[in-house]
Amino acid sequence: MCGIIGIAGTQDAAPQLVEALRRLEYRGYDSAGIATLVEGRIERRRSPGKLTQLDRVLQQKPLGGRTGIGHTRWATHGAPTESNAHPHASRRVALVHNGIIENFRELRSALIAKGHHFESETDTEVAVHLVTDLLDQGLAPVEAAREAVRQLTGAYALAMIFAGHEGLVVGARKGSPLAVGYGDVEAYLGSDAFALAPFTHRVAYLDDGDVVVLHGPKVEIFDSAGQPVQRQIRMTTASAGLVDKAGYRHFMAKEIHEQPEVIAHTLAHYLDPSALVVQLREPEVIEVLRHASRLTISACGTAFYAGLIGKYWFERLARLAVEADVASELRYREPVYPAGGVALFISQSGETADTLAALRDAKASGQTTIAVVNVPESSIAREADIVLPTFAGPEIGVASTKAFTCQLSVLAALAIAAGRARGVIEPDREHALVASLLEIPRHIVEFMTQEETVEALGGDLAKARDVLYLGRGVNFPLAMEGALKLKEISYIHAEGYAAGEMKHGPIALIDENVPVIVLAPHDTWFEKTVSNMQETMARGGKVILISDVAGIAAAGEAAYANIPVPAVDPTFAPLLYAVPVQMLAYYMALAKGTDVDQPRNLAKSVTVE
Ligand code: F6R
Repeated sequence: MCGIIGIAGTQDAAPQLVEALRRLEYRGYDSAGIATLVEGRIERRRSPGKLTQLDRVLQQKPLGGRTGIGHTRWATHGAPTESNAHPHASRRVALVHNGIIENFRELRSALIAKGHHFESETDTEVAVHLVTDLLDQGLAPVEAAREAVRQLTGAYALAMIFAGHEGLVVGARKGSPLAVGYGDVEAYLGSDAFALAPFTHRVAYLDDGDVVVLHGPKVEIFDSAGQPVQRQIRMTTASAGLVDKAGYRHFMAKEIHEQPEVIAHTLAHYLDPSALVVQLREPEVIEVLRHASRLTISACGTAFYAGLIGKYWFERLARLAVEADVASELRYREPVYPAGGVALFISQSGETADTLAALRDAKASGQTTIAVVNVPESSIAREADIVLPTFAGPEIGVASTKAFTCQLSVLAALAIAAGRARGVIEPDREHALVASLLEIPRHIVEFMTQEETVEALGGDLAKARDVLYLGRGVNFPLAMEGALKLKEISYIHAEGYAAGEMKHGPIALIDENVPVIVLAPHDTWFEKTVSNMQETMARGGKVILISDVAGIAAAGEAAYANIPVPAVDPTFAPLLYAVPVQMLAYYMALAKGTDVDQPRNLAKSVTVE
């Protein structure tokens, strides 16, 4: 999703702006640009495509200036062309924008009627003309910006610079995140603390409705009523070093391989390995779950599939009634929230617009809200009643991998804690479950030795046009996650089904060209899944069985291929089985030659609905 940077600086702004934009690349974008003040005039450079293309433009036409703004754009209104790329500018103001201005059509008609000429198809350009119009009416820059923001509806973050006003950058936040960075002689705006980390670690997050004015290093913040306010300055933990690929070909490959470490790190926060118990450092959550009348789980995409697996765990281990829905539905479908209910939201970025809106709605409906998040300073973390962190570290690949398994780690620990608190799990069972969880990182390391098998299979299966994933129980949501992973990075059509649903429709799709990936640990339901496999194979389907040694032996010779994984407690199998599923998607995408880390049309942090 779009990334914003603003610098009220003392040195050459262009290299700093591009450096910060590079740190926002992970969010996903399809064009980029920067604007600065050169002898008081607004100058800009923009380019469709990646930052390397903007670099080329800057080499041909360097840009001076110490005050500037920059942007990576993820197209919403209008194609990713140079004319639609930000910054948008008039002779008086240049502006970058993240989010959507909902009333842009009305405003544009009114401004065109007043003689303004539009050059792009974006909703953003309306803000440029609105501010210019207000400046032309005699308003000073800050007043013009504030009045313009008052007239905009939608969810957005903005940063602007003004011709003739060296050192002045104005920003505004409504819905989309915006952080202020405090330097000694400079001040900054950025979409997140990670973008600002090379310049400063002193960061404040704006609240909705805030307008911020940077005059060189001086920072003034005004709330939605126009009153001066202070927002808490925090020391961020974001690393100034660019996260690199550590020798891997892609961030996704690196992140897949980091899982043993980050899962262990996340589990270490929630489990006591000597006593083999769950030890929550957020003890209030125990009382909340003990008395919960119902648990509502919500999130988007991969995080939602983590939540669906969590539903199985909370029901089985804690006998807690769970409802799970994607946030984009939950927020609008007028759900009935029970008294004494708890609502749990899951998000890697902590900024996903639908998840944040669903959280706000649940909170307003009297639910105690819990957030499982990877970015501790994010909006979702700041607004939830209780925050349960994941420790995945920065996830740069657009396709979520390590954040997903860290989310599962937290949910597994929480479900055990809830089971204890609700009197469902006896101490012995807790010890056994915790011991199984603690073994997961080692089993993942063990599985990694199969990587070449998965690579070869990935090359072979990459010719497929459609792929089905089947799983039962906790592995059903993982089947859907596997299909999502494959389609988003390889563009191969894929669907995940509950194995038992095959004969109720999807089996019609089966022929010798459709690989069917079966996720089946040798558990209580294994025989039933093998029957579903047989039905598939009888129709020529190519079954790829992911199972343990016992499962592969019991299934016989019939599968087209097997991916062996270590035997684990079937309750927590998704934590391990996620890895072959991610790896297979990765190698299929690699064989197809797609942009694995930044797949087409996708954004890392979806801050619009
Ligand atoms: C898929 C993927 C997305 C995200 C979803 C939620 O690989 O990454 O489906 O899981 O957009 O994002 P967060 O977790 O940041 O709320």
